[in-house]
Amino acid sequence: VVYICVGTPPRPDGSTDMTYIEGAAAGIAESIERYTVVVNKSTGPGRHRRLREEDDHRQPAPSRRLRRGLEPRVSARRLRHPRRHEPDRIVIGAPNQVVALRILELYAPLESKMILTDVASAEMIKYASNAFLAMKISFANSVANLCEKVGADVIQVAKGMGTDNRIGAAFLQAGLGYGGSCFPKDVRSLLHTAQDNGYDFPLLTATVNTNEAQTKRFIAKMEAALGGFEGKKIAVLGLAFKANTDDMREAKSLEVIEALLAGGATVTTFDPIAMENTKSFYPNITYSRTAFDAASGADAVAVLTEWNEFKQINLERLKEVMNGNLVFDGRNLYDPAKMERLGFQYVCVGRGNVSATAEAAQLASLDGFALNK
Ligand SMILES: NC(=O)c1ccc[n+]([C@@H]2O[C@H](COP(=O)([O-])OP(=O)(O)OC[C@H]3O[C@@H](n4cnc5c(N)ncnc54)[C@H](O)[C@@H]3O)[C@@H](O)[C@H]2O)c1
Repeated sequence: VVYICVGTPPRPDGSTDMTYIEGAAAGIAESIERYTVVVNKSTGPGRHRRLREEDDHRQPAPSRRLRRGLEPRVSARRLRHPRRHEPDRIVIGAPNQVVALRILELYAPLESKMILTDVASAEMIKYASNAFLAMKISFANSVANLCEKVGADVIQVAKGMGTDNRIGAAFLQAGLGYGGSCFPKDVRSLLHTAQDNGYDFPLLTATVNTNEAQTKRFIAKMEAALGGFEGKKIAVLGLAFKANTDDMREAKSLEVIEALLAGGATVTTFDPIAMENTKSFYPNITYSRTAFDAASGADAVAVLTEWNEFKQINLERLKEVMNGNLVFDGRNLYDPAKMERLGFQYVCVGRGNVSATAEAAQLASLDGFALNK
């Protein structure tokens, strides 16, 4: 069995660049000596038939045929995040029973649920799952924006929604929107597939538009609170698209930094591991040794990645080293009432009314009592 897990980056029009998959497949076709199952682990749309046809054409001998089969969810995540990760389920899209049995045997030691299906459905499962999660995030962000207007607290709302088993708590966190190497490209790719097939999929368009608007909205809030970026010193804490990775692909921090620099701000940054990768985008901003070094003398701090280290930061010390008192929290890491007590002007997402959120937090502390009843 040979796995293909090369990148499938997006092209500017949202379609998927399949050249790496094709390159890898051609290389495999050249080298295999006997019947070989080739597993495509990369996320790519509807190309399984063409790859097989191309190869059948190139390699007519049945013993050298390139077979292609599945789209499980395990390998690439393990590659990037080395922590142990047993997937909820492994989706195997197989063109026939021989391939299906070969792959089932390979995964037998794992305890995950196996879902066996055809190749086209397996590809759609992957795309539909990622697009659904992205849609959930965009939905949570829209609810958050409305919470700000009606004085509700999105943390409480997400908790209430998330405890409904039909909904689930995951991917309901409001913030700056989704980034990273999967969601943006996979949603756009599915949208492109829909358009290619003459199907209008407005939920996907809305998901993308909401996501893009969410970051712009946050930047606008920053600009309004600061009275413009010109001449301001702003510390950006957190660069990676999410915590526990140095992956900067489609990281929201890049967009925020771009706006800050364009507006005439001076930017200092700190991220536990993603600073090296950010230097290729912004070589001339200041990369600091600690969060406090970055925040030293800053008019404002913007927290853009939900690193534990930032959740637990010594806020009193942060306040001391800063010049101003503005904290823009794109990940809702802190308690608004506490931030106010400490003398910060705290701008977060979906928690407009500080006294209401304090009240909500107090009420939430009675949850255990209420739930046990
Ligand atoms: N990262 C994730 O969490 C994740 C999760 C599920 C699916 N995926 C999918 O898996 C695929 C890979 O994602 P990634 O994040 O690991 O991408 P990546 O760009 O980090 O890694 C791809 C690797 O493939 C190598 N490569 C390219 N062409 C090659 C060839 N012909 N032979 C050998 N190696 C080659 C590249 O050098 C690179 O190291 C994508 O399609 C992605 O959508 C990723």
